[in-house]
Amino acid sequence: MSLSHYSPLISIGHFHCYNHQNHISPPSTTLASPPYLHQRRKEKRSVITHLFDSMEVSGVDSQGKEFNSAQEMWREEIGEEGDETRKTQWYKDGVSYWEGVEASVDGVLGGYGHVNDADIIGSEVFLKTLLQERLVNVGANQHLVALDCGSGIGRITKNLLIRYFNEVDLLEPVAQFLDTARENLASMGSETHKATNFFCVPLQEFTPAAGRYDVIWVQWCIGHLTDDDFVSFFNRAKGCLKPGGFFVVKENLARKGFVLDKEDRSVTRSDPYFKQLFRRCGLHLYQTKDQKGLPEELFAVKMYALTVDTPPKIHKTRSRTRDNRPQIIK
Ligand SMILES: C[S@@+](CC[C@H](N)C(=O)[O-])C[C@H]1O[C@@H](n2cnc3c(N)ncnc32)[C@H](O)[C@@H]1O
Repeated sequence: MSLSHYSPLISIGHFHCYNHQNHISPPSTTLASPPYLHQRRKEKRSVITHLFDSMEVSGVDSQGKEFNSAQEMWREEIGEEGDETRKTQWYKDGVSYWEGVEASVDGVLGGYGHVNDADIIGSEVFLKTLLQERLVNVGANQHLVALDCGSGIGRITKNLLIRYFNEVDLLEPVAQFLDTARENLASMGSETHKATNFFCVPLQEFTPAAGRYDVIWVQWCIGHLTDDDFVSFFNRAKGCLKPGGFFVVKENLARKGFVLDKEDRSVTRSDPYFKQLFRRCGLHLYQTKDQKGLPEELFAVKMYALTVDTPPKIHKTRSRTRDNRPQIIK
């Protein structure tokens, strides 16, 4: 896959390289040039208040075009509400993009295959804590099931999920990726830890089986969904979690508002934008964690654990681990 040179970001499929704040758009054809990296290091994370409404916040596309709001961007991309033809085209273009990508770790990670280990280690630490806290009553005989959404070639299932879950189902709209996943996973696992179902469908058309899953893992794919389809997917999927079950969403974060990738038809949302959508889904933010150890030129990556039930109230007022406590989505 070739690198596309965009301003203000360099986009490599869904896996964007990000070299300065997404609301500034000077023309650039330089790939991650030192001045930008330097500038980024000096930048402080923008402070975003909880009053922030992402829909009202401006964003940019990968060609540097600015939008005053997410509504404006969506109107331009998929037309007015109910324009099914434009929306269908949006999804078709997204899948076509991935159909042209090599079915390998490097392919699904946009040429950044070397971040696989850091990604998996970060996910494992997050998942282990959650399993201990959430599925604490799980006995040795408990049968755990996960769903790997937008699984690509099964990278996350193979390196992580299959070790913790007795069964993993994979969902992926690109047939060649799913075939590779099936091959990659055929020799893995055992009778008690295996990949079971391979669904070749996109998230916006999928309704998981009721009450089947302990964990629904959504990584580096939800940017392909429009806001409304994002909300309806999670609303449908809520009923597919077992008691104590949870979602993990692991995604790239835009610093502000959003960044639309014109090439692969995906939107990188900011943290407040995600929180606003989670609130619309009626989900509770149970825990979050920043992914560490990724190359500096990439977007920041965050993990969100989300539950259907309200997290219990914590009465302690001060703690160093406050960030990891259940909290209301602000
Ligand atoms: C950056 S890759 C990530 C793959 C995998 N999650 C990983 O981390 O290795 C993005 C994946 O999203 C998939 N995808 C694209 N559109 C999708 C949709 N509408 N629903 C579900 N997955 C989609 C792509 O086919 C691709 O496999």
